Amino acid sequence: MNVSVFGLGYVGAVTAGCLAARGHRVTGVDVAASKVEELNHGRPPIIEPGLEERLGAALREGRLSATTDASHAVGETDLSLVCVGTPSTVSGGLDLSFVRQVTREIAEAVRRKSRPHALVLRSTMLPGSTRQLVAEFAADLQSSGALPVYYFPEFLREGTAVRDFEEPSLAAVGTHDGGAIPTALAPLFGQGTPTVSWETAELLKYACNAFHATKVAFANEIGRLGKALSVDAQAVMQLLCQDTRLNISPYYLRPGNPFGGSCLPKDVRALVHRARLTGASLPLVESLLPSNDRHLQSLMERIATSGHQEIVILGLSFKSQTDDLRESAMVEVAQHCLGRGHRLRIYDPQLNLAALVGSNKRVIDTRMPHLASLLHTDLRAALGTRGLVVAAQKVVPTDQLAPLLTAEHTLLDVNGWPELRTLGAPYDGFCW
Ligand SMILES: NC(=O)c1ccc[n+]([C@@H]2O[C@H](COP(=O)([O-])OP(=O)(O)OC[C@H]3O[C@@H](n4cnc5c(N)ncnc54)[C@H](O)[C@@H]3O)[C@@H](O)[C@H]2O)c1
Repeated sequence: MNVSVFGLGYVGAVTAGCLAARGHRVTGVDVAASKVEELNHGRPPIIEPGLEERLGAALREGRLSATTDASHAVGETDLSLVCVGTPSTVSGGLDLSFVRQVTREIAEAVRRKSRPHALVLRSTMLPGSTRQLVAEFAADLQSSGALPVYYFPEFLREGTAVRDFEEPSLAAVGTHDGGAIPTALAPLFGQGTPTVSWETAELLKYACNAFHATKVAFANEIGRLGKALSVDAQAVMQLLCQDTRLNISPYYLRPGNPFGGSCLPKDVRALVHRARLTGASLPLVESLLPSNDRHLQSLMERIATSGHQEIVILGLSFKSQTDDLRESAMVEVAQHCLGRGHRLRIYDPQLNLAALVGSNKRVIDTRMPHLASLLHTDLRAALGTRGLVVAAQKVVPTDQLAPLLTAEHTLLDVNGWPELRTLGAPYDGFCW
């Protein structure tokens, strides 16, 4: 393909070098004449291992050139990749001015072209940015097919950028409606790359970077606490990473229920308490309980604004396959519903009130002494004929649930239970 790459910084220079090495004919574009000059001599405008060889070879083989003339570059190529900077504004927002300028230039140049051109935005941009840019500069071109627009986040890391580009750790491409990409572009995006909406691809990039930042901050906080307690935190974190079932895995990484139960809240609380006594400051770990509480509050707000007077809770324990009610978020939700005067029914086949003992029984005796009158053992009686069904746990097979739902039920899925979408009743995902 003939490809133009806008922005010849850390991302753009690597993109230009690696695409040229794959056999594409690449035209680099930058407003900085010095970077254009460097590229035209086969020299990388930035330091990046492996880049100089690729640029030099591409130049010698006639597959690389650079210019400051955007219109010329668009005219010469079939596709433009945009890798210009998106720095922070003074207030911490995102400065899209460089991407806006380039998108405008490309759209104007495409209007002068007689054949379609593809626009692939790679700069990191907040959800909604691509749609906003298209609306501003290229709505007609995108809808007529003259300028199909893709958002393709870049995940490379400086220092290993060439290898990351050639073997990306993650790839996903955003299209205007989440639909498939043309087969001709599959080699560029990578075979089998998932296609999502523009906004999903945009948020994916931020979710990845926020997650990486969370990992670093977490390891550092455990390190600081370990140092304060004379414990070897390097050994702790190395062992932590050996658990690929619960720790380094997709487990605990699904949006849904707040955390609860007999361990996580208690142990986070104790860790924060101990850290304070040692003088170690752990803002990330300290924020976990407030964050969880905020999540629970937002669930209660959703219930309060649902318009339903009758509430049905499916699953009262903090997770399925247990009758443990200690620090279960749903006990709090139930109390909240009662406090607001809702008619509440609860279904949880794991819960046998007569068998509850110890601290688990104390939860009920002190917080919900009237639970017995709300807990139904019969699913039909629990669901009734109307109400908001707060599906917190998968406590019943969907084929038993489906025939008992009416048009006056709404399913509020707190757990991420995809089959609920197919049951006919209105469906609402808690945080998706
Ligand atoms: N650096 C990374 O490791 C990395 C990784 C993934 C994603 N990203 C994202 O990729 C984007 C680019 O990052 P970078 O580090 O390469 O930035 P950079 O600042 O190194 O390079 C940006 C380049 O864009 C050029 N530019 C600005 N306006 C232009 C215009 N109108 N026309 C042509 N060129 C123009 C600048 O002169 C500069 O050379 C950012 O959104 C960044 O967040 C960066």
